[in-house]
Amino acid sequence: MDFNVFDSVKLPCGRTVENRLVKAAMYEHLSSFSGGPPNEFHYGLYTEWAKHGWGMILTGNVQVSRQHLTLGRDMVVPTTLNAEDLKPFEKLAAVIHGGDDNTRTLAIMQLSHAGRQSANFIGGRPPFVAPLAPSSIRVGAGSTGNPGRAISDLAFHAMFQIPTEMTIQDILNVQSSFVRGALLAYKSGFDGVQIHAAHGYLLAQFMNPKSNIRNDEYSVTPENVTRMLYEIIKAIREVVPTTFVIGIKINSADYVTSGSAEEASQGERRILDHIRTIASWGVIDFIEISGGDYEKPDFSACGGSQKLDRQAFFAQFSQIVMKDLHRSPVPFSSVPLILLTGGLRSQSYLQAALVSKHADLLGIGRGAVVCPDLPKILRLQLQNSKYSSDWDDRPFAREPETALRASKLVPRVKLIGLGFGSAWYIIRMRDIAVSQIKNSRAEPPPADYNKGILITLFKMWAWFDFRKKRKIVSIWILGISMMLIVTVGVL
Ligand SMILES: Cc1cc2nc3c(=O)[nH]c(=O)nc-3n(C[C@H](O)[C@H](O)[C@H](O)COP(=O)(O)O)c2cc1C
Repeated sequence: MDFNVFDSVKLPCGRTVENRLVKAAMYEHLSSFSGGPPNEFHYGLYTEWAKHGWGMILTGNVQVSRQHLTLGRDMVVPTTLNAEDLKPFEKLAAVIHGGDDNTRTLAIMQLSHAGRQSANFIGGRPPFVAPLAPSSIRVGAGSTGNPGRAISDLAFHAMFQIPTEMTIQDILNVQSSFVRGALLAYKSGFDGVQIHAAHGYLLAQFMNPKSNIRNDEYSVTPENVTRMLYEIIKAIREVVPTTFVIGIKINSADYVTSGSAEEASQGERRILDHIRTIASWGVIDFIEISGGDYEKPDFSACGGSQKLDRQAFFAQFSQIVMKDLHRSPVPFSSVPLILLTGGLRSQSYLQAALVSKHADLLGIGRGAVVCPDLPKILRLQLQNSKYSSDWDDRPFAREPETALRASKLVPRVKLIGLGFGSAWYIIRMRDIAVSQIKNSRAEPPPADYNKGILITLFKMWAWFDFRKKRKIVSIWILGISMMLIVTVGVL
């Protein structure tokens, strides 16, 4: 039988994903500065995605703590959940569900806490107030063996502070804010949540010996390492119905600092153990496999990068996970689906990833920004050539020159390359949002692949809503300041 990306699949909670195509979580940079609810720009952007029949649409990270933002314009879980607080989130869920094709996309809210990766100045705290983290270890402190150490140290120092070690009370507060986030999602009509425990954010920090040197019950010893995640998931399951979808995003090998093959395989064994533990809880619907953090942002590698000049960055590991979870006899009462994200770039590879059992679900991030209508394009392709062997193996989404040039310009400071590359996608998302606000039936504007790096970065930061003119001056000042900070980091 030929595997098909349009086959539906059932999640352990009983909900059905209509097809295997998942729009991955992507921070939109569209909320107001210092974070807030979704607004008209989010509705515009998600209206476009909702038109095209994605199986699941994951929102960009919604922060559970207003004091731990990523780039400052994050969506944030409100501190109270009264009718007024819910309204903008209800609208977002309705927009995602409101596509005009026959499939019913699942709307999933990604919940996140940036922990030590919440940047200085724009992280939602007064300047120089440290973020919370499992231990007082600054981002960058663990990147030994990096040949560009001096430059990357400077960048990390400019952007991040030494975090404050969390007390048990801080831990309990964070746990209850994740539960509030899940209640927000449930009450406002989302089908589920995804807990972000990847990319070096707080929950990944708890599971990683390079950022967690605690000696208490939240340490990284085998019996403690997944405790923080477990307590959050357990508390969420207690307040939402059994049909509410709960997913987790996790890294394939977080523990690699030297880059040696031995350390990499040790890291993979560790994370495989974590995945087995998570599956044994019997309450998780899907596990998304990604990789990297701000010190080593593998998740956003681009085709131009030498090491990762291939498709599906984490496919090998996700295949191991699939085999392990389905070994005979199946070891768990309910087996989470595996969502693979990162570098899925061509139609033929999407099919191949299913056929080779690398994944049950296929996450597409940057490709979904360039090609929001990818599911529609693939449906047409399927009508024309029924078998996956006939599928096109050319990339469905071109990478912007900005991202490729950035990865070459500052190859040793990968975080800055990541920032430049992300800026292009952020502006593209905004362009789509604006065009949808003007005319929700319009096609998205064509992508500008040749935009320069500095102009891209400037446009990202110096953006304001024309209808709120009083904010113009302060936002331009912020834009220029951010450019200066990044430039100091690069130099
Ligand atoms: C602009 C941008 C924003 C992102 N924001 C998030 C996010 O909020 N949460 C998350 O888990 N991953 C985020 N990612 C990572 C993507 O979900 C995905 O893992 C990564 O882009 C690799 O997939 P791709 O090769 O299909 O783009 C972001 C990536 C980009 C480019």
